[in-house]
Amino acid sequence: MATAGIQTNPDEFQERIDAGIKIEPKDAMPDAYRKTLIRQISQHAHSEIVGQLPEGNWITRAPSLKRKAILLAKVQDEAGHGLYLYSAAETLGVTREQMIEDLLAGKAKYSSIFNYPTLTWADIGAIGWLVDGSAIINQIPICRCSYGPYARAMVRICKEETFHQRQGFEIMLTLSRGTAEQKAMAQDALNRWWWPSLMMHGPSDKDSKHSAQSMKWKIKLFSNDELRQKFVDQTVPQAEFLGLTIPDKELKWNPERGHYDFGQIDWDEFQNIVQGNGPCNQERLQARISAHRDGAWVREAAAAYAQKHPRGARRSA
Ligand SMILES: [Fe+2]
Ligand SMILES: [Fe+2]
Repeated sequence: MATAGIQTNPDEFQERIDAGIKIEPKDAMPDAYRKTLIRQISQHAHSEIVGQLPEGNWITRAPSLKRKAILLAKVQDEAGHGLYLYSAAETLGVTREQMIEDLLAGKAKYSSIFNYPTLTWADIGAIGWLVDGSAIINQIPICRCSYGPYARAMVRICKEETFHQRQGFEIMLTLSRGTAEQKAMAQDALNRWWWPSLMMHGPSDKDSKHSAQSMKWKIKLFSNDELRQKFVDQTVPQAEFLGLTIPDKELKWNPERGHYDFGQIDWDEFQNIVQGNGPCNQERLQARISAHRDGAWVREAAAAYAQKHPRGARRSA
């Protein structure tokens, strides 16, 4: 899959990481570091691309032209995020074709949250507010991660995610200040998206098999549980502002810890979706397979054009 790079002494490599020196594509790096990054960045890229599907479902049904234009821009941003990230992964020696092939064959993972359905317009608000909100918390630290191309891609992505989060919150605000039916719709969306959003930070620290090494390599700067806590602490006051209730009876401010305590996550549900049995796993994969097949002529035409007009193709790339 990846081309083996220049081998390095693991101690010297660790010293560079500890000194805060960024690792660049042509630098020597341990194979395991390269493989971990390829896995993480490609999973991240796939999540951006598959993540377009639940929201794409509402583009034609957005309640106004303004909402449609905003949602279209947001979904388009996610495509861009996928492309930056595929490019960042390619710098590690894996090809884009290989990554796409793994996704379509069901071998590669993507964020399990995108295997839930979007049943009402309020889901678009909840996704922006909670799913993009969780993504920001996970991704801001990656702007400072040790691998240069990944860190730099994340800077722009995070700026756009902030817009996504705000647009979702604004939809929720409009609905919760609307009619009783609209407020109930917002509450229902919060009920369905809250727990999956907490799962987005990954398994509990005690069960997270890659965490320790990734933290040592500064691919990961905070643990899953720390990121999840941050998300809860940030989001509870926002839900209060909306006048909505978070569906967790155990949620309570803990003055000693200076954080909110919260209830148990259903990890069986999480594992079940990761293993491909979520409500929309089949549908999402099928949509990607069809899109890839239907877009074959575009790729062929672009390749033929690039061959005929190499300079022109480069200019317009
Ligand atoms: Fe994104
Ligand atoms: Fe986003």
